[in-house]
Amino acid sequence: MTDTTPAPQRERVKIFDTTLRDGEQSPGASMTLDEKLRIAHLLAEMGVDIIEAGFPIASEGDFEAVSRIADQVRGAVICGLARASKKDIDRAWAALERADKPRIHTFIGTSPLHRAHQLNMDKAQVLDRIHDTVTHARALCENVQWSPMDATRTEHDYLVETVNVAIAAGATTINIPDTVGYTAPRESAQLIAMLREKCTGVDGVTLATHCHNDLGMATANALAAVEAGARQIECTINGLGERAGNTALEEVVMALKVRGDIMPFATGVDTTRIMAASRLVAAVSGFAVQFNKAIVGKNAFAHESGIHQDGMLKNAETFEIMRPEDVGLTESNLVMGKHSGRHAFRTKLKEMGYELGENALEDAFVRFKALADRKKEVFADDLRALVDDAETSLSN
Ligand code: KIV
Ligand code: ZN
Repeated sequence: MTDTTPAPQRERVKIFDTTLRDGEQSPGASMTLDEKLRIAHLLAEMGVDIIEAGFPIASEGDFEAVSRIADQVRGAVICGLARASKKDIDRAWAALERADKPRIHTFIGTSPLHRAHQLNMDKAQVLDRIHDTVTHARALCENVQWSPMDATRTEHDYLVETVNVAIAAGATTINIPDTVGYTAPRESAQLIAMLREKCTGVDGVTLATHCHNDLGMATANALAAVEAGARQIECTINGLGERAGNTALEEVVMALKVRGDIMPFATGVDTTRIMAASRLVAAVSGFAVQFNKAIVGKNAFAHESGIHQDGMLKNAETFEIMRPEDVGLTESNLVMGKHSGRHAFRTKLKEMGYELGENALEDAFVRFKALADRKKEVFADDLRALVDDAETSLSN
């Protein structure tokens, strides 16, 4: 496949999974404590760098979930979210302090809309609050992430000021959220490049990108930010998240793996666990994965048209850019339907143990096409009935 750039030439990008926090904020996606623990263990096992386990002040349940994950899950950094208030930060720290590698993530709205309507604060007041809360968080924990909410709609000069204050107060990761999924790839890259050029001390911190998918560009925006210097991608399994969701973990991880030739970055994720994680999150959140979802949809490795099936049977690279095994599937799926051709039909029958002569095969194929016109998908049982019928009518 195209994964040809040797690993050492690739720069490492951290994967920050927020399925349990931003993902769970999707209306109707609440998860139980046990479900959250199962997801967190799986994320750590698959090599996710940072797990945002919840928002401890939001509810007793969230506090309990973050504490238990901090207690039990090893390998990944465990992060808890806090608004820009000392009370929130203390609550987050109380939930996180037994983690091997804790991180406090604190945020405040910085755009004109958020300052005026959410916070009722002016620019100077927001800067003071950033200074006080990041300083407080840093006194508790060495690993502090700070986010200017709605960064992509914040005045650039002011965004630089806020980032400067957060870095001076001790933030170790600066996350740039596209809270309402408003940006586009070129702008996403320019914003990161601008911050790298203008912010003081930015070389000593990790820049992160956090994109929402309102315009369907979350993955493209995250990858553009990485190309411009972001080294942490915030994402969720299946792209679960508020409104149209967040950047999908499986998409950015596989894009970097498959297109290492043009995006020379590596993640620590074991991609063969992606399908298991997708199924677990779909099951516990109750959010089914759309059939044509990139990487994890039911049809992502399925082929029905005759031309594609013929190509696949000759060489899978004709119509697949990644191997199903790389995401944890055993094989591609040749779906038998009205677009399928003779090659796939014969191969499918052979797999099922039928070796038909030319006439019997042609007869069965004609019947199959007639059936496929009436039925969306022809299953193994349908094929069996069809061939058994053909054999009976030929022997009579
Ligand atoms: O989208 C957003 O702005 C967030 C922040 C809390 C980081 O999720
Ligand atoms: Zn978000």
